Amino acid sequence: MHPLRSLILAAAGNDAIRRLVATAPVSRDVVRRFVAGETTADAVAVTREVVASGRSVTLDHLGEDVADVAHADENVRAYLELLDALHAEQLAARAEVSVKLSAVGQKLSERVALDNASRVCAAAEQCGTTVTLDMEDHATTDSTLRVLAELRRTWPSTGAVLQSYLHRTLTDCGRLASTRVRLVKGAYAEPAAVAFGGHEVDLNYVRCANALLAGDGYPMFATHDPRLVRIVGERARWYDRKPGTYEYQMLFGVRPDEQRRLAQEGETVRVYVPYGSQWYGYLMRRLAERPANTTFFARALVSH
Ligand code: FDA
Repeated sequence: MHPLRSLILAAAGNDAIRRLVATAPVSRDVVRRFVAGETTADAVAVTREVVASGRSVTLDHLGEDVADVAHADENVRAYLELLDALHAEQLAARAEVSVKLSAVGQKLSERVALDNASRVCAAAEQCGTTVTLDMEDHATTDSTLRVLAELRRTWPSTGAVLQSYLHRTLTDCGRLASTRVRLVKGAYAEPAAVAFGGHEVDLNYVRCANALLAGDGYPMFATHDPRLVRIVGERARWYDRKPGTYEYQMLFGVRPDEQRRLAQEGETVRVYVPYGSQWYGYLMRRLAERPANTTFFARALVSH
């Protein structure tokens, strides 16, 4: 294992370091830059701010890989509470939720994950919004797409996420091009047998973007990469796509000026806002998953 990666993973499991990070003034700023806070009220407050600036939001209640039914149920309840609050604050038209199936029981069984995700989708519909299923490591892709297909029988606007680093993704884009799809590069450490590396990931992102723009669905281009943002804009015009028939997405705290610039140009921009008490693992895992992510967060800090 990469020495930096093992160091970060060791820190991720260390309670003393967690407390230090949580209370040191500088790192508290860092955490607050990337995570909305721990509570539903924190998530709603950040949503209100982002929406007021002309951007939309997708909210992620942090928590992955639950190993028991009770914990999965807790995560579902957090989403239900959040959706109620967004509805009460009249924010639901501009704020959807992102759900990781592993946080609602996918490791227990696909059935548990489907039942729990259905509860979130039903609540989202009642509140006038939608759900996007985040995509996790490649071992879960087929299962996640099966659950997605089931959910879409009742809630057709449920969003998918496809990762351009996977060899399979161009084919998946073709199949799902008439639906709501978020296209990302992919954040997990994947073996070369299933995933591209380096520049190939970007080339495949462009191929996949073309496939989605050629369809009649609603593509959501989630990237901070200036070249890809520019190319997606050019390809959207080539396909005669008007702003509002696709959107850009970026993470909370990353390139906020670019987010505002795109929104001021009339583009739809959605900000992915994570919140919840599991923020420490989220930050650390993002750093550890791929060495590139370490520079990704470091770059965000120096460009603050
Ligand atoms: P990458 O990290 O490759 O950087 C490319 C270039 O972008 C850099 O060279 C630099 O120019 C610019 N850049 C990047 N970060 C910057 C910064 N902080 N400040 C200034 N410039 C910067 N993954 C996944 O596997 N499943 C999922 O469900 C999701 N969901 C998701 C939602 C949203 C809204 C986003 C934005 C991302 C995801 N991801 C994801 C994560 C995604 O797969 C990927 O790991 C990150 O977005 C990083 O890749 P980028 O495309 O941003 O560019």
